[in-house]
Amino acid sequence: MLYIDTHTHLYDGQFGDDSEAAVKRALDAGVGKMIFPDIDSTTREAMFGLASKFEGTVYPCIGLHPTSVDSGWKENLDEIEGLAGNGNIRAIGETGMDCYWSREFVREQEEAFERQVRLACRLGLPVIIHSRDATELIFSVLERCRTLSPRGVFHAFSGSAETFRRMERYGDWYVGIGGVVTFKKAGIAETVKQIPLERIVLETDSPYLTPAPHRGERNESAYIPLIAAKIAAQKGITVEEVAEVTTENARKLFNI
Ligand code: NI
Repeated sequence: MLYIDTHTHLYDGQFGDDSEAAVKRALDAGVGKMIFPDIDSTTREAMFGLASKFEGTVYPCIGLHPTSVDSGWKENLDEIEGLAGNGNIRAIGETGMDCYWSREFVREQEEAFERQVRLACRLGLPVIIHSRDATELIFSVLERCRTLSPRGVFHAFSGSAETFRRMERYGDWYVGIGGVVTFKKAGIAETVKQIPLERIVLETDSPYLTPAPHRGERNESAYIPLIAAKIAAQKGITVEEVAEVTTENARKLFNI
């Protein structure tokens, strides 16, 4: 069985000297490929450094995380646009909008998100969307970019089946399902039954959103099989089928 972790920050400072070992533990657990979404200019060097040590296994992305949008966002985006054409880059992200942590730069977040969607379309790349308390704003940007046919993934999807169907009207979109699906009483554990496997990709969002039974610990890509097992149980299918279909989805989405 081969899994792909489509959203993991193993280059995060929380891993320190353990980041290379964390990639190797993932490989040992059957997670054969990993996508590293970018955060901002402060994490980029660590991301590219770790990705270059595992070429063909780890794929970097480039983007400005919505919670990193501040008064310097335009300069940050200029830099991103300069780097995005690099052949190793597999997606623009993570981008999107986050009105949970702060609404101080909500207008700037919206502009930065739209510019990144347009950049992705220009380069033929998928977009990794972070959406928190911002569903309507996200859809309004996608509406404005509709004629460009953006595609990508709603990372850490926690929306309803209705939100999923709405997303489908915008074309070729996947949902990223992670550790939250293993939490007791998580809504997504029910919603996932109504989302076709052909639209799901697996992700950990390491070091965050650690699946059961490791909640409270640092998350890492080696825990992907726990997420796959929970999706299989919820859908009443085999874990082999979850691995096969979600891996094929991730290959198509990120061209890996
Ligand atoms: Ni993330």
